[in-house]
Amino acid sequence: MIQTVQTTAFTDQKPGTSGLRKKVRIFAQPHYAENFIQSVFDSLADFAGETLVIGGDGRYLNREVIQTAIRMAAANGFGTVLVGRGGILSTPAASHMIRLHKAYGGLILSASHNPGGPDEDFGIKYNIGNGGPAPEAITDAIYARTKTIDRYLTLDTPDVDLDRDGETLVGTTRVRVVDPVAAYADLMETLFDFPAIRAMMASGTRLSFDAMHAVTGPYATEILERRLGAAPGTVVNGTPLPDFGGHHPDPNLVHAHELHARMMAPDAPDFGAASDGDGDRNLIIGRNIFVTPSDSLALLAANAHLAPAYAKGLAGIARSMPTSQAADRVAAALGIPAYETPTGWKFFGTLLDAGLATICGEESAGTGSDHVREKDGLWAVLLWLNILAVRRQSMVEIVHDHWSLFGRNYYARHDYEGVPTAGADALMAALRAQLDTLPGTTVEGLTVTAADDFAYTDPTDGSVSLKQGVRILFDGGSRIVFRLSGTGTEGATLRLYLERYEPNDGKLDHSVAEALAPLITAAEKLASIKTHTGRTEPDVIT
Ligand code: G6P
Ligand code: ZN
Repeated sequence: MIQTVQTTAFTDQKPGTSGLRKKVRIFAQPHYAENFIQSVFDSLADFAGETLVIGGDGRYLNREVIQTAIRMAAANGFGTVLVGRGGILSTPAASHMIRLHKAYGGLILSASHNPGGPDEDFGIKYNIGNGGPAPEAITDAIYARTKTIDRYLTLDTPDVDLDRDGETLVGTTRVRVVDPVAAYADLMETLFDFPAIRAMMASGTRLSFDAMHAVTGPYATEILERRLGAAPGTVVNGTPLPDFGGHHPDPNLVHAHELHARMMAPDAPDFGAASDGDGDRNLIIGRNIFVTPSDSLALLAANAHLAPAYAKGLAGIARSMPTSQAADRVAAALGIPAYETPTGWKFFGTLLDAGLATICGEESAGTGSDHVREKDGLWAVLLWLNILAVRRQSMVEIVHDHWSLFGRNYYARHDYEGVPTAGADALMAALRAQLDTLPGTTVEGLTVTAADDFAYTDPTDGSVSLKQGVRILFDGGSRIVFRLSGTGTEGATLRLYLERYEPNDGKLDHSVAEALAPLITAAEKLASIKTHTGRTEPDVIT
């Protein structure tokens, strides 16, 4: 029954920050997805008879690659494959399903917030048995295998009917098509005070959730509208589409501008949110107030004890290095550790497994906790709703209270997308060459206290990650960080992260642009962005 198919290696299958992401036309090449999936299986051990979870965000190519992955999982000896109905599983729901069923691991098919469609992006990511993204030791092994692979295993079997719940045999492997939403929604009910949120809704609180035609539509409709009683129509763009309706399913102020406009209007709802292609990111906007992801992390951590799952307090708070330091101030006030990790959710997994951190977050609109091993967009929305239901204040009041207690970390990220790789590399190299001489110097009135190329040693397993981004720290707690994105599919994306700290007795109501102006000028002086990238303006400011 098992077919061994001869193949030749592709040279471009190096997993990035979050799995292998490429244009659909690259993935559609004969053997391309098969080579990568087999390289994943060849990098794992002792999975015969075990369970594999498979699901994706519904984007173009999702169903085809799921059929391929099912046959290959069966040919490689998995005992059971769990697949979300319609081929759908949000990334956090996949993480939960892996944990709930004690699966060996999972394949998540997504390119997250990147656009979908025949000319856009696709991706494959492998998650391990704790439900989180594979650590670098595994992704390195997968990449090494992609360079030498010469065969893959599959079966000649008909497609599985993905649209009907139930079990079928593929070879000798049980393939179970399961409800993608129910178990995840049940988990959320165990974490949050649903009766309190339902009562808040019944008393007239209004929400708007933009699912961006991506995977969270069915999850948000079930949880917000059905289980919590939010008004019908609360979820907009709620039907997942293979091309996300032609939009870019990235919940930021550029791509979720309609939500932003709705939330700034005179008759705005009380609370607004959006999620991305695969449901792990979140954007939070209160009536007349945008909450940066970094502030959202800090506020959620400071108020988490108001939700049942976190009532006993947090073990620690972790943030990725470029995320603002606002969460560190909360950790200090709570007397718990703060961890600073490289960009990429996978770095939180060991901290969560070891019980060192409870809540984690990233500037890239990701927040989550130890309930799964991925960031979780709807989880963040529900924790916010739980906090609103208990505090009975507006978002504006809650955010301003926070700043008046902890001070404000003004923050923005400037992205220069599709920059020629050579120019981006030269910019980073020139910055690295200055690191030793910068401390003590002054730029735009800001005194550099430290400058380094961020390196991280995982406190649980001692693994070391080098060259994770250039940090320039200034007197008074302000910072500039330069980093190249690890998730793009073409050229390089330069990310410039700007942060200015204003203590609680300082000026807390600047506009962000005004507050960050000296840092923007300093960044240009330090990095010669215009010369290296040929750009005078960032493409996206978030
Ligand atoms: C993905 C990862 C995140 C990461 C983000 C940005 O969403 O899951 O952990 O923060 O990409 O990565 P990038 O390398 O593009 O800045
Ligand atoms: Zn995502």
